[in-house]
Amino acid sequence: MNLFRNIQDLRQYLKQERLKAALEGKVLETGFVPTMGYLHEGHASLLREARRNNDLVVLSIFVNPIQFGPNEDFERYPRDEAKDLQLAEQEGVDAVFLPSVGEMYPAQTLTKITVSQQLTGGLCGASRPGHFDGVTTVVSKLFNIVEPERAYFGQKDAQQVAVITQMVKDLNMPVQIVPCPIRREEDGLALSSRNVYLAPAEREAALVLSRQLLHVQELINEGGTLTAGEAKETLLHAFTAEPLAEVDYVEVVRFPGLQPLGDSERIAQDGEVLVAVAVKFGSTRLIDNVILSKKGV
Ligand code: PAJ
Repeated sequence: MNLFRNIQDLRQYLKQERLKAALEGKVLETGFVPTMGYLHEGHASLLREARRNNDLVVLSIFVNPIQFGPNEDFERYPRDEAKDLQLAEQEGVDAVFLPSVGEMYPAQTLTKITVSQQLTGGLCGASRPGHFDGVTTVVSKLFNIVEPERAYFGQKDAQQVAVITQMVKDLNMPVQIVPCPIRREEDGLALSSRNVYLAPAEREAALVLSRQLLHVQELINEGGTLTAGEAKETLLHAFTAEPLAEVDYVEVVRFPGLQPLGDSERIAQDGEVLVAVAVKFGSTRLIDNVILSKKGV
């Protein structure tokens, strides 16, 4: 496995690999998995999907400062390079890109990528202003560095998938965005690098998210008569009953357009509907969601 900390070295390597393949009359297809590290089974599932469908797999690990708000956890975001490299090796990654902040953002960086508030203003964008500008800017830079045919993103961050898919379409970026399902612990908790912050009692309390989202999913799959308002009420009721939980948002929106459903609109009548929640347990903000469709999920 090859490790790169400089953009130029990674580009040189990719160029050589592509040239080698071309000389054999082949086209080298690259699958890319951008992450912020502290890798877990969710990240591993993206790497496996990339490994299955590409000749070369590139993983980036970069805790991107510009997607964190001033009072967020950039400084204390968990990091474990040695463990991450071990996981990457196990998953058959060809190249890991581990840039420094200075490498990605030299002094005098004056450009950013912004996707309209229509997609970035609600859900996580409402409580994390500027967050998605940070995400789209870094992902664009990484796409320009790696030039992948395909890039893999988890539905855990459903709004991120919607925003990046729109950006790629609007800017004619020659990359296919591949969304991948949410991976969970056996008890249902969605895997997240931030789960490590949770005290045991908070972790236990956090199970309310997946339990209730699954409950709503079952209601839809069984009868399909639930309205958006009823779904929100069910979730809010359960979350408010949990003393350690502090609700940030509970939303029911279309996917991938993210337009909110009216309270009396029935879920799963047509198209896909995203039921997304963000809830704080102590100082840890967790997100989870389910995507429902008429056919059931
Ligand atoms: P990070 O939170 O490290 O996540 C990297 C990728 O792993 C994202 O696509 C995320 O959706 C996916 N992922 C995280 N938890 C998952 C789970 N439980 N199941 C499936 N996939 C999961 O998302 C980011 O980093 C950053 O915003 C990034 C895109 C790297 C830009 O900085």
